[in-house]
Amino acid sequence: MAIDEWKALESQGLNELGASTDEAALRAWYTKFLGEKGLWKAAFGKMNAVPKDQKAAFGAEGNRAKTVLTAAYEAKDAEVKERKLQESLTTNPLDVTLPGRPRVRGRLHPATQILRQIYAIFADLGFQVYRTCEVETDEMNFEFLNMPAHHPARDMWDTFFTTTPGVVLRTHTSPGQIHVMREAAGKPVRVILPGMCYRNEAISTRSEIQFYQVEGLVVGEGVTMADLKGTITAFARRMFGPERQVRIRSSYFPFTEPSIEVDIDWPKDDPNRDRLTKGTGWLEILGAGMVHPNVLRAGGYDPEKVTGFAFGMGPQRMLMLKHAIDDIRLFWQNDLRFLKQF
Ligand code: PHE
Repeated sequence: MAIDEWKALESQGLNELGASTDEAALRAWYTKFLGEKGLWKAAFGKMNAVPKDQKAAFGAEGNRAKTVLTAAYEAKDAEVKERKLQESLTTNPLDVTLPGRPRVRGRLHPATQILRQIYAIFADLGFQVYRTCEVETDEMNFEFLNMPAHHPARDMWDTFFTTTPGVVLRTHTSPGQIHVMREAAGKPVRVILPGMCYRNEAISTRSEIQFYQVEGLVVGEGVTMADLKGTITAFARRMFGPERQVRIRSSYFPFTEPSIEVDIDWPKDDPNRDRLTKGTGWLEILGAGMVHPNVLRAGGYDPEKVTGFAFGMGPQRMLMLKHAIDDIRLFWQNDLRFLKQF
């Protein structure tokens, strides 16, 4: 191998490169000339046979040839790639003005949304959220709430019984009152108790066998009916609008004495007003009252020293009011046409 043979290799390489017009040919060219087992490597390997005084010149010339071939290869490679891009842009044009494909995003269920609104309002009023179980003993669901066995007031709740005697699905969140008081062990209480309740009802537009309730309980020294009214009024105005009036009617629950039901007035300019309020202009939003002494006692409190108020509301009912939804069954049907509106 003599020095001038590099020139021959170089021109052979450049010639053949000129004839390579697509990517596959370029790859093959590279393997043949500059690859691990290619011609350049093989030629450089003949260094041993070169006389000592010519080795340096031989090496320099070899490296120069390599630089030339590599630069030519890279230029050609870029040229082929650019041509390919131009081809695909003309045969397969991309319309950047096309509208994008929207991604379907999940969202919170309307029942969850209203629950969170309720939590936020009561959090501002200093209430903590407390959760208790959905499967309760008969004692918790009724007895400690001042309804002994065979008490006629039990008829107010159509109950699901489990196969275990004395164990029921809670018909309301009120048994949570007992759990909270027992855990607070004599200290003041200010909590809401949200959760699912179950009633053995015929399903209709107005009643479901499962639904949410939010219970409220405040126990402490000197708690009065005025505190109850103030709390409910503050809540109603945050939830339904600052102008809302609150009306209190006397009612009956075994676990409160006195017991009340609370109505709010409905905006006069709402076209649904008559239908929603059955022509009265007033709409019931919750049941409440002063905690019955027997219930305080069951919770471990002394009714001579402390008093309390409790209320129970149906968040889904409120949602129906707010959005004039006329069928409670829509909530658990998972019909996206309904859910997407929230
Ligand atoms: N637990 C009652 C119900 O389910 C509501 C209520 C709660 C009433 C607390 C008074 C006090 O109907």
